[in-house]
This record gives sequence, structure tokens and C-alpha cells, in this order.
Amino acid sequence: MKNNKAIAVFDSGIGGLTVVSSLMKRLPGENIIYFGDTARVPYGIKSVETINRYAAQITKFLTQKEVKLLIVACNTMAAVAFQTIKDLSGVPVLEVIDAGARNAVAQTRAKAIGVIGTPATINSNAYARAIRLLDSKVKIFSQACPLFVPLVEEGWINHPATKLIAREYLKPVLDEKIDTLVLGCTHYPLLKPLLQEAVGGKIKLIDSAEAMADIAAQLIEKQKISNDANAAPEYHFYVSDVPYRFQAIGEKFLGRKFDQVKLVSLQ
Ligand code: DGL
Repeated sequence: MKNNKAIAVFDSGIGGLTVVSSLMKRLPGENIIYFGDTARVPYGIKSVETINRYAAQITKFLTQKEVKLLIVACNTMAAVAFQTIKDLSGVPVLEVIDAGARNAVAQTRAKAIGVIGTPATINSNAYARAIRLLDSKVKIFSQACPLFVPLVEEGWINHPATKLIAREYLKPVLDEKIDTLVLGCTHYPLLKPLLQEAVGGKIKLIDSAEAMADIAAQLIEKQKISNDANAAPEYHFYVSDVPYRFQAIGEKFLGRKFDQVKLVSLQ
């Protein structure tokens, strides 16, 4: 059975467009609906209760549309609200933490993995749990990096201040002789060159956005729900606010021109 319903991707803001960008490359025939809660971002420093409430509202909004698969692009929501989302969804749900954990376990030789993310993601221990489920012998060293999200949104992806902060954040995990570092936040793939320089060439950086697109492609193939329509795919973007520098940031995340977006208000 083929299926031309859309893949719905959502995030606390526009950072999840890193996942959309990977999906567009990996699954060029699929229709995509995106929701970014730009009015309420950042989630990474909010309480578990608030993140769950927001995640429920977004799930209800998206599942009212014609969707065949939900992708939680936001590491913070995946870390603390995945069950809420799954309970409300009615369609398969994939999330970035499982994707990143699988990729990291496949890559590590030293069985020592570093994980960086927002305070909510790191405090939840969700990456550590997901990695240990896959391989209980792996040692995990986590570090919250709360300043990275605002630095990326400011466009300081190669700025000396960001380099200095990265070195400071990464010092404790590098002391642990990790060989793999999970970029456990939507925004961090944009810092990849800077982070690679900070950790040195021998440490493998795991981009959850890329891993997510591969897992989505496998699921679509396995369930035989790929879009077989000949028309060009449709991309619809929804946000809860149009913030300052929205266009510039969106285009950076997407790696191409940012199409028209619709404003929605969630209750
Ligand atoms: N999308 C969030 C994440 O991946 C980062 C931005 C936020 O704090 O809301 O964790």
C-alpha cells in the first residue's frame, strides 16, 4: 500500500529544520509538514511539565492533518515528552534520541561516548538510557551546553566566542577519552566544523538529524508507505511566531531558500 500522506516533523523552534533538510535529501519524494514552536522556544531550559503540555498541543495540531508518520526533531521533547506524544499520535512516531544512540553505538570502538545537549535533555538521562539499552558496556559522559542554542541563533557558528565556550564545555568529556560525541540538540549540527576542530580529528561526531533521516527511510520502506505520486513533493511550514531574523536563520537551517510559512496559535 502506497501512501502520499505527509511526514510531520516538529520542534520547539526552527532548529528541527536540520532534520527536514536531511529528510529532503534522503527521501526527496515525500511530502513534509513542519511545525516550529517559535513563540515558546527555547524548551531546553523549561520544566518537564511545561514541555509535556506543549508537546501534547503540537501532536494534536499535527495529527489533525493528513500525516503518516510523526518525527520528533527536538531532542528536548524526545527526552522528556515522548510517551505523551506517542499516546496521542495514532501514527508511528520516530524521535532523534533513538536515532542518535543507534548511530553512536555503531560508531564507537572505545565504548566511550560523549553526549551534549540542552539542560533538559541531559538531566533526563534519555541518551544514556537509550545507549545502554543497545550496549550496556558503553560508558557515557554527558554535558549540558545551554549557551550553544542562542549562539547558533545569533549566527555565531564560527565565532571566537563560540570556540572558547565550546572548549570550556567539552573539556570534561574530552578528559574521559571518548571516541564518539553525540550532537544531542537540533542546533548543534550547524556547529559541526567548529566542534570537530574543538575535539580533534579522531573523535566521530554523531549528527542525529542524518541518523533520523536514515531510520525514517527504513521505516517507510518496511511499512511500504512511500509516496508514489509523480507530482513534486509539497512542503508546508507552520510556526507559532515569526521572530527577528527568522528568514536568515531558517535558510541557514534548511540549507536553501525558506518557503512561505503559516502562522498558527496553539492552545
Ligand atoms: N530543539 C531543542 C533541542 O533539540 C533546542 C532548542 C530548545 O531549547 O528549545 O533540544
